[in-house]
Amino acid sequence: MSPEPIRIAQISDLHIKPPGSLAYGRVDTGKALERCVAALNEFKPAPDFVVISGDLADTPTTEEYQYLKRLLAPLNLPFAGIPGNHDSRELMRTAFPDASYAAASGPLDQKIEVGGLDLLLLDSSVHRKPHGALEAPTLGWLDAALAASSDRPALLFLHHPPFKAGIWHMDRQNLFNASELDPIIRRHPRVQLIATGHIHRAALTMFAGVPTTICPAPNHAVDLDLAELRKPSFKVEPPAFHLHTWFPGEGFGTLVTHQVPIGTFDGPHPFFGLDGKLL
Ligand SMILES: [Fe+2]
Repeated sequence: MSPEPIRIAQISDLHIKPPGSLAYGRVDTGKALERCVAALNEFKPAPDFVVISGDLADTPTTEEYQYLKRLLAPLNLPFAGIPGNHDSRELMRTAFPDASYAAASGPLDQKIEVGGLDLLLLDSSVHRKPHGALEAPTLGWLDAALAASSDRPALLFLHHPPFKAGIWHMDRQNLFNASELDPIIRRHPRVQLIATGHIHRAALTMFAGVPTTICPAPNHAVDLDLAELRKPSFKVEPPAFHLHTWFPGEGFGTLVTHQVPIGTFDGPHPFFGLDGKLL
């Protein structure tokens, strides 16, 4: 019998405000996370783990992290978070003191083993700046963590995309030192996916020869203004999360990413009638 698939849900850019406050005066990010947690709890088969890829809080404040923890309390699945540009390393360490951080101070990098899969969570936050960068300790830790095994598939998670997505005001705040990440990825072919956030909308490219994604958000999306027509804007589009499934198989295995919309939708309806014929 082949080993069971491993399912990693990714949610991103929660932007939790104090209770009763709306993000940008319009978006109830707390309610959006409540709906997201319900969708994760209801999903079958249950994901094995949930990664929150940054911007957990919005300002950030201690009150926001406390509210975030209350909103995440009903989640029936194990989870870990990495900081985004809206987060604070210190406040996150205080809010989640039991996380498996790679170092006692500095970047909040984590390695998490889920069955035969390694999740490497990289802290790309830069204090009080919107752009991202991987500090030397994080790059060194990543290289060593990947070198520790050659036969375990690894998924990398970080907040800032290491590529330009074509949205002008986000491209100037992506991962500034992607060129330093590139050779590390290429040295370790066990990396199967690089999964990011920050732009609140799904995107896919290749980086360092590896599929690289952006995860949509449970709340609002950065406007897909590829023509540079508007000032930085957002739209409230259908919320979603990503489900990365590792199928162990011949040789190494296969990773498949599904986008899962959050909400109640018409269906499922059968394709075939009682007579077995296509309806
Ligand atoms: Fe961000």
